[in-house]
Amino acid sequence: MGDAWAVRRLSGDDWGLHRAVRLAMLLDQPDAYGSTFAREVAFDEATWRERLGHPVLIAESDAGLPLGVATLFRPDASHAPEIVAMWVAGHARGDGIADALVEACVDLARERGDSVVRLHVMRDNRRAVAFYERVGFAFDGSPGDIDGCDRMSRVLTA
Ligand SMILES: CC(C)(COP(=O)(O)OP(=O)(O)OC[C@H]1O[C@@H](n2cnc3c(N)ncnc32)[C@H](O)[C@@H]1OP(=O)(O)O)[C@@H](O)C(=O)NCCC(=O)NCCS
Repeated sequence: MGDAWAVRRLSGDDWGLHRAVRLAMLLDQPDAYGSTFAREVAFDEATWRERLGHPVLIAESDAGLPLGVATLFRPDASHAPEIVAMWVAGHARGDGIADALVEACVDLARERGDSVVRLHVMRDNRRAVAFYERVGFAFDGSPGDIDGCDRMSRVLTA
């Protein structure tokens, strides 16, 4: 059994931690996200702080090690929110961390009065698809924003 961990929302002053985890996930899983380490390693502090304007949830061990992250991104006020940039460190997968990150995102969406949460996933990312289906997401027939990617939705009940 792993160490105890908890989920919290990052603040703007956590931008350095956000940067470190984001760059780690882009190196760990370069095909899972619509971006690259080479692109984002060049971002400045202002860009990382701006990104934290969208809620970024992190799971940390009691010793302060980052174990996973997810962002609840809303393109604008008229759009449903999307879970993006979801990642759990390899050694921590299968321990319920991904479930807790998704539920934290869903709780934030509910607080805003949203009725649906969306996400995009590469259709050959079988572990991610199996995970999202287990926590209530289903392919909704919409194409994703990049080749090989499809959209999934979860309708929120009260
Ligand atoms: C996607 C991710 C966040 C899920 O977190 P996780 O802790 O691995 O998820 P879980 O282990 O709880 O669930 C994965 C499920 O897929 C199953 N699975 C594992 N490998 C699989 C495979 N190759 N094919 C199909 N299912 C698979 C597991 O058995 C599990 O199902 P179960 O809960 O019914 O047993 C994590 O794997 C991750 O960070 N992956 C790399 C980054 C990534 O792909 N992010 C998503 C971008 S959209």
